[in-house]
Amino acid sequence: MTPDGEAPPAAGSAPAGTGAVTTATGSIRRPKTTGLAKGDSVPGVAKNDPIMVIDNVTRRFGGLTAVDVDHLEIPRGAITALIGPNGAGKTTLFNLLCGFDKPNSGTWSFDGTNLSGIPSFKVARMGQVRTFQLTKALSLLTVLENMKLGATSQKGERLWASIIPAMWRKQDDANEEKAMELLARFKLDAKAEDYAASLSGGQRKLLEMARALMSDPTLVMLDEPMAGVNPALTESLLDHILDLKDLGMTVLFVEHDMHMVRHIADWVVVMAEGRVVAEGPPETVMNDAAVIDAYLGSHQDVDLGVVTGRVAGEHSAAEEELLEEIKEAEEASIAEAEEEKK
Ligand SMILES: Nc1ncnc2c1ncn2[C@@H]1O[C@H](COP(=O)(O)OP(=O)(O)O)[C@@H](O)[C@H]1O
Ligand SMILES: [Mg+2]
Repeated sequence: MTPDGEAPPAAGSAPAGTGAVTTATGSIRRPKTTGLAKGDSVPGVAKNDPIMVIDNVTRRFGGLTAVDVDHLEIPRGAITALIGPNGAGKTTLFNLLCGFDKPNSGTWSFDGTNLSGIPSFKVARMGQVRTFQLTKALSLLTVLENMKLGATSQKGERLWASIIPAMWRKQDDANEEKAMELLARFKLDAKAEDYAASLSGGQRKLLEMARALMSDPTLVMLDEPMAGVNPALTESLLDHILDLKDLGMTVLFVEHDMHMVRHIADWVVVMAEGRVVAEGPPETVMNDAAVIDAYLGSHQDVDLGVVTGRVAGEHSAAEEELLEEIKEAEEASIAEAEEEKK
């Protein structure tokens, strides 16, 4: 990973127009997006151009309030990191925002449209996609087949269109072309015909991100993109996330790796016990002594590798449950695929 200290800019090899500079190590350093908020860095501060506005969202599990967010705005065209100790409610908030879970109360809007109560598949069609903390790539489909699953509004799925093969074939060709372009961008094109099961953990993460881009999203939500990624792939994954911003997308991600957050986030939101307890630019928030002590301090004696999944560690009950769900979904799709082959 590129060190966080200022490296002397080297002359001219960075792409024009992005304001990027090339560091001594040859990797491209891209500028942070600043001036996102309308006021001081306090929880709930208004943004100049919010893509998502969240109001009074609560989610309870029995007696436990997992999420209790009064007001939060996500800035458009920037990379926002959601951080906080285990159990802070980050994944639960993610699930609510993309329609995978229902809140006990509250409203939120995406691009000016009220999203409360809208199911996840419709949310995805509106341009908001997410990846999972545990990768959901279907292992007995090929890499290319996985990519095609990411395309939205496939004409072949509609009855009237499926009667006319010429219609879906044309779309299928277009999807395939797009898929191959994206796979090339993520250096997975040589693996297009391989089963996703043959990919390494890091390659699966890249596939998942590539697949999310099949639907041309405006907001990409990543839950722990670095979890389980081999350090050798870390830098390229970071670059891909920065690319999303350069391509005009908004990124919201949950991450435990503070180096990564410092390196790529334009804005940081700190959650603890379901609430937003701090937000601001990374250099402000992450140097805030109160934040470090109260909310990050509990992590400092934990090996970050365990937290991010880079080395074996315990999963939370919620993660175990999701893992089980994913396994079931994979088994079901495998059975379906086998049925089809007969
Ligand atoms: N499906 C669920 N049933 C019961 N409790 C849950 C469920 N999902 C999450 N929780 C609890 O809600 C709290 C927030 O969890 P989570 O959103 O996964 O936190 P984070 O992602 O910040 O680590 C935790 O105490 C967790 O145990
Ligand atoms: Mg989580």
